[in-house]
Amino acid sequence: MKVIVVKSNQDLAEKAYEHIVAVMESKKEVTLGLATGGSPVGIYELFRKNKPRSAHVTTINLDEYIGLAPTHEQSYRQFMNKQLFETVEFKETFVPNGTATDLQKACDDYEEIVAKHPIDLQLLGIGQNGHIAFNEPGTSFTSKTHVVQLTSSTINANSRYFEKEEDVPTTAITMGIGTILKAKEILLIASGKNKAEAIKQMLEGDVTEACPASILREHPNVTIILDEEAASLCGSLKDRQTV
Ligand code: F6R
Repeated sequence: MKVIVVKSNQDLAEKAYEHIVAVMESKKEVTLGLATGGSPVGIYELFRKNKPRSAHVTTINLDEYIGLAPTHEQSYRQFMNKQLFETVEFKETFVPNGTATDLQKACDDYEEIVAKHPIDLQLLGIGQNGHIAFNEPGTSFTSKTHVVQLTSSTINANSRYFEKEEDVPTTAITMGIGTILKAKEILLIASGKNKAEAIKQMLEGDVTEACPASILREHPNVTIILDEEAASLCGSLKDRQTV
């Protein structure tokens, strides 16, 4: 696992963007696993500005709220359209279907999509409780794409995008941890003080289902990019040069 600590959120976005574009340029056909939320916004801004060659790239998103139509302002499909897909052209883009009548089938279909398009690089954020995608603490490390009940910590963190907390969906479809771990390479980004405890648990705590992100320590090809605040509680990063 490679850990890079940068000074600012802008530096983080630039480093992560360069990393992603290098993977996109490495092969004729590439699949990127993408995330929503605040963490990747700076990266997607660089995509919109630089418009890297991407017509050979398929994207597969991590998760979607259940009950929000793809056209709903707060759906993750809509987030991706606005942040990226309306400006940068990809070969194909996949986001789980949160309005499927048969949710189990939607999960199974998504698992098949991932199997058909093995992910070359998976971009991840991290929740304050250590979640990756919507895999909340306690989720099995071998889980596949499934329906989840969101925790109050996640609902509260995500309520900033909604008018009121009651409007945040309480369930979602998420790629499982086992699905995520199949990616050939993983890039996790985190910034800000509110992520510092989760980062400490991920890097220095036990590898345990109580901290879903901790399993990344056992994946063979992971890069973590942190800003100084997110890295601030990690004793093991104290002497590391900030880049
Ligand atoms: C989003 C996702 C989540 C977020 C995490 C951090 O697709 O899967 O795991 O990455 O909740 O969210 P932000 O970046 O908003 O702090």
